Amino acid sequence: MSITGIKGMNDILPGDVETWQFLENHARRIFRAYGFAEIRVPVVEKTELFCRSIGETTDIVEKEMYTFDDKSGHSLTLRPEGTAPVIRSFIENKLYARDSVAKLYYLGPMFRYERPQKGRYRQFHQIGAEILGVEDPKIDAQLLAMLSHYFEAVEIGDVELQINSLGCPECRPGYRKALTAFLEERLPALCDDCRRRYLTNPLRVLDCKVPGCREATAGAPAMLDHLCEGCDSHFARVQGFLRDLGTPFVVNPRMVRGLDYYSKTTFEMVTNSLGSQNAVAAGGRYDGLVEDLGGPALPGIGFAMGVERLVLMKNSQQVEPPRPELFIAALGEAAANHAFRLMTSLQRRCIHCEMDYEGKSLKSQLRRADKLRARHVLILGESELTAGTAPLRDMDGGTQDLLPLAGIEELLAERWTVG
Ligand code: HAM
Repeated sequence: MSITGIKGMNDILPGDVETWQFLENHARRIFRAYGFAEIRVPVVEKTELFCRSIGETTDIVEKEMYTFDDKSGHSLTLRPEGTAPVIRSFIENKLYARDSVAKLYYLGPMFRYERPQKGRYRQFHQIGAEILGVEDPKIDAQLLAMLSHYFEAVEIGDVELQINSLGCPECRPGYRKALTAFLEERLPALCDDCRRRYLTNPLRVLDCKVPGCREATAGAPAMLDHLCEGCDSHFARVQGFLRDLGTPFVVNPRMVRGLDYYSKTTFEMVTNSLGSQNAVAAGGRYDGLVEDLGGPALPGIGFAMGVERLVLMKNSQQVEPPRPELFIAALGEAAANHAFRLMTSLQRRCIHCEMDYEGKSLKSQLRRADKLRARHVLILGESELTAGTAPLRDMDGGTQDLLPLAGIEELLAERWTVG
């Protein structure tokens, strides 16, 4: 029996990978303009890092981590997200000493043992961005403006930016108390999960998808009504700057996040087109996290986009695989050898060039050129070698040119690499 891949972990095949590259290239281009530099951190970290940052009572830490002991008995975990590893590296490498602001982005695989379905996988990929060192609400607005800019640039519409504030250690305990009291009166209507977590993590109850829980919590108190003065004014100013920048958003007072490190501004980029996996990107402020992980008391904010979800949304408008600039159709051994040298010499000039290796008929070679959507075809047979000229067909324009074979590499390279 052949060996198959692991459930919930996907191959990204040619034909799809072009969409991935398109999405990654735009991220690099846009993030660079906003001053971000790439950071690459390992996919495995000490388990403790995620327990301390994401929170012991979150779904991720309670049931979704790929945790194992290595041969020395150390507990390691495949990273379920990128923020904690980036902060760990920021502290360990003292990046805060380089500049008062660090703007970092990352791309790569993350791992969560979730039930796989459309848009939800066990190995998935995130493109994330983090800003460390700025408390001013302008930076919240700028990060959200960059996120919106990205969605515009990759032409993924049908998304809505929803924002909320989760308060801070000063105002959240009061809200938690009010929410717990509210939930206590409705315990019989809640699902088993919610009855268990209403004391440990009551905010998560607001996020439960079970219809009975949604109904029971319809009139639940909102964090926004319990914000302290500082958080309230921060949230108002974020909204003001977003309006100034022309970044559309809506306030969703019921939005909670699945990770415990958030404070103040939180947000999600939500779509209707992916069923229940409706968040294509999400993030927020985490002002206490750097200090909690043993670093200086610096504020932070960031987001991560789910690349598989972006790809699902982009697929309706498929990004085309690259087209060969030239296909050389060669007839006879001498012509095939000549074609082989010419192809290699053009490839060394980074011109995408293809030929047939099996001595097939001209008709079958032209069929392959068509299938590959080659822009040009050069036909090379014995008579062309003798004459020292060969016809170059422009497959889009339908025109044909007779070109001298001597110096043809330079001629074609000049034509196709200019501009
Ligand atoms: P998160 O909400 O857990 O946040 O994940 C961010 C995004 O990753 C989600 O909105 C979704 O698009 C994608 N995602 C999450 N789980 C899966 C999965 N199993 N399959 C496919 N896609 C998935 C974080 O991870 C935070 N670190 C974001 C952040 C950065 N906050 C501040 N900075």
